[in-house]
Amino acid sequence: MSAIVLPESIRTALWKTALDAQLRAYAPYSHFLVGAAVLDEHGCIHAGCNVENAAYPEGLCAEAGALSTMVLAGSRAVKAVLVVGEGPGLVTPCGGCRQKLREFALPNTPILIADRQMVRASFTLAQLLPESFGPEHLKNDK
Ligand code: THU
Repeated sequence: MSAIVLPESIRTALWKTALDAQLRAYAPYSHFLVGAAVLDEHGCIHAGCNVENAAYPEGLCAEAGALSTMVLAGSRAVKAVLVVGEGPGLVTPCGGCRQKLREFALPNTPILIADRQMVRASFTLAQLLPESFGPEHLKNDK
């Protein structure tokens, strides 16, 4: 299944939102600042940043924060995601965040990966999380 092609204006809006969010990240332990933006079914964009904790495993990823903001706003569908992080490698969502995104996204939902200079790559959710488990697996209407 091929990815949905996002209009340039939406890509830019997602990127700018994630860039702003990245600057607000609380990452005193890793010093690795991440920003995320999710586009919902109403065309609204929700931001998140990573929030670390002195008890290290309790830290939250930027994607989790953006999803929480989206749900709080009353939205239930992720139409696109953009993650901003720095470094030589692509800052793709961690395994846990791929599953969290899976709850609200479709296999062909685009997940864009950026740094502060540019959008560097685009994947579908299915590319990042193939053969995934989701809400429909829990429906018992067979
Ligand atoms: N992090 C995110 O927020 N999202 C990702 O996609 C990858 C990693 C955060 C978690 C932690 O605060 C820091 O980056 C280093 O792993």
